[in-house]
Amino acid sequence: MCGIVGYIGTKKACPILLAGLSRLEYRGYDSAGISTIEKNRLSLMKVKGRVKNLANLDGIDNLEGTIGIAHTRWATHGKPSKDNSHPHQDNSKSFSVVHNGIIENYNELRKFLTDNGYSFYSQTDTEVIPNLIHYYFTKDIANDELKFLRAVKNACLDLKGSFAIEVISKLYPDNMIVVRQDSPLVIGTCEDEKYLSSDIPAILSYTRDFYLLNDLEFAVLTRNMVKFYDKDLNKIEKQTQNIEWNASAAEKDGFDDFMLKEIYEQPTAIRETIGSRINLDNKCEFDELQFTKKYLNNLNKIYIVACGTAMHAGLTGKNAIEKLCKIPVEVDIASEFRYRDPIIDEKTLCIFISQSGETADTIAALKLSKEKGAKTLAISNVIGSSITREADYSIYTHAGPEIAVASTKAYTSQVVLINILAIYFAEILESCDIKILNNIKKDILDLPKKIEETLKCNEIIKNFAKTIYQEKDVFFLGRGIDETVAKEASLKLKEISYIHSDSYAAGELKHGPIALIENGILVISILTDSNLVKKTISNIQEVITRGAKTLVITNQKLDKNMFDKVIDIPETNCFFSPILSIIPLQLLAYYISKEKGLDVDKPRNLAKSVTVE
Ligand code: AGP
Ligand code: GLU
Repeated sequence: MCGIVGYIGTKKACPILLAGLSRLEYRGYDSAGISTIEKNRLSLMKVKGRVKNLANLDGIDNLEGTIGIAHTRWATHGKPSKDNSHPHQDNSKSFSVVHNGIIENYNELRKFLTDNGYSFYSQTDTEVIPNLIHYYFTKDIANDELKFLRAVKNACLDLKGSFAIEVISKLYPDNMIVVRQDSPLVIGTCEDEKYLSSDIPAILSYTRDFYLLNDLEFAVLTRNMVKFYDKDLNKIEKQTQNIEWNASAAEKDGFDDFMLKEIYEQPTAIRETIGSRINLDNKCEFDELQFTKKYLNNLNKIYIVACGTAMHAGLTGKNAIEKLCKIPVEVDIASEFRYRDPIIDEKTLCIFISQSGETADTIAALKLSKEKGAKTLAISNVIGSSITREADYSIYTHAGPEIAVASTKAYTSQVVLINILAIYFAEILESCDIKILNNIKKDILDLPKKIEETLKCNEIIKNFAKTIYQEKDVFFLGRGIDETVAKEASLKLKEISYIHSDSYAAGELKHGPIALIENGILVISILTDSNLVKKTISNIQEVITRGAKTLVITNQKLDKNMFDKVIDIPETNCFFSPILSIIPLQLLAYYISKEKGLDVDKPRNLAKSVTVE
């Protein structure tokens, strides 16, 4: 989950590495560290806490080296402490390593190395890596130009688990070696400089040209060249990919926090997601997919698999695909799906949604589905991310970089894309009245404007947050499509305000949870489906009777006197109402977090990209 950066070039590495770390801090913020090569000596500076603590360390400004690696940690093995921070070094202090991921067999490797005379100074799984590299390096009697690479390769072949690793050595002051397996790492390239990072936005201000590594591919970086090797050390060729995102998209642009900026970017993000998906003949278009009517007709099931917010977007996809295409859809949490032996064959289509495209559980679920013979389709926001490289087909949300840990614009863009996909399937299958589809498509094009309109509730929500930020428990209710939004709103509130909250299908409350409703408790309901509105109102009535305070988000004409507060949102087709109804609730979570003085973009215990199981 951590962030790693690296630099080899003509400038001082330290300021570039620190700037990269601060951009990656949303991935992990337990501790931070840096190692550079200073006149054939490895420097090593690390600290518990934030990147700014590292930047303030005495002596850090004296680092002159033009090659270095750095890390901001999200601890998996060993508590956050200076000793456990990365980079880690071997006993002879010849190699410095940063690592993102988990080494599952580190106990065996540690024992093996201890038996061979090595000592350990941290509780991390990572510390075995530099020592294994040293072990293989000293065992190798050859002295050719591949010796450093061979040692790294031999060490990596012993590792089980996930890793993105950068290695530098005082013995090779002009080389850096990197490798990845199931953890992200990108290489940015300019003429005589090379940049490394866990994700693209952190180094976007230096270059738009990137190399992407596949599992167990090794890259040897010098200032003006990158050489690639497979796991048998055969040379391989790679082309750079040009990334269109601009650097300012990864800056705050005058907003206090990335989250608020990203909430406000939703009209633009959704415009980009829609792009030219509806063509001049008013048909949905996905050139990158080759699904025939015969293939779709033969499907016995579609699985939509994802984690967290992406899974909530998947629930809206189920609603649309089942209604418009009449194909049964199951939505599953990736960490459950991968271990529950799901029934999959070649008549199953598996769709994976992931903003980052790097979520370990989602990647594993995708690999499993492929092994079982299903076709796989990835929906991601990050071009070239692991998930899109594994899947048979990939489509992109094009929402621009999302930096805040709490996902906002990625969610709404995922909802839009999977719903357009449902219409596309329905057009191929001819499973739905064309007039209905045309009406839905008209609504899609109106969405960006309606989001802008919805955002006007900002001040009302900000003031409302002031009155409720000290709540201890909040309940979210909804029926049908509104229940999916209740789930997402509840997650958002928990994540950044640390208020306990739960979401329920409105009709389910009386089967147990209503026992928790007492005087003054806040119940937030979403009411956007005219067919269900009366039913849900009856359920809200049940909590009002028991003393609850109520906030209602709605696009329906209601008797407002019934509720403590009502937020009106524009009307739209049911399929797309989550895109509008979530917005006041994203803002509410945001302003409650601000009222409580919390770090909105970097909530405790969380990291943006969950690259460990
Ligand atoms: C969203 O607010 C969360 N931080 C989290 O649930 C996230 O959606 C989940 O970890 C999945 O991430 P992904 O979309 O990058 O796979
Ligand atoms: N497993 C390593 C540790 O706990 C790396 C964790 C990370 O990816 O930040 O130090």
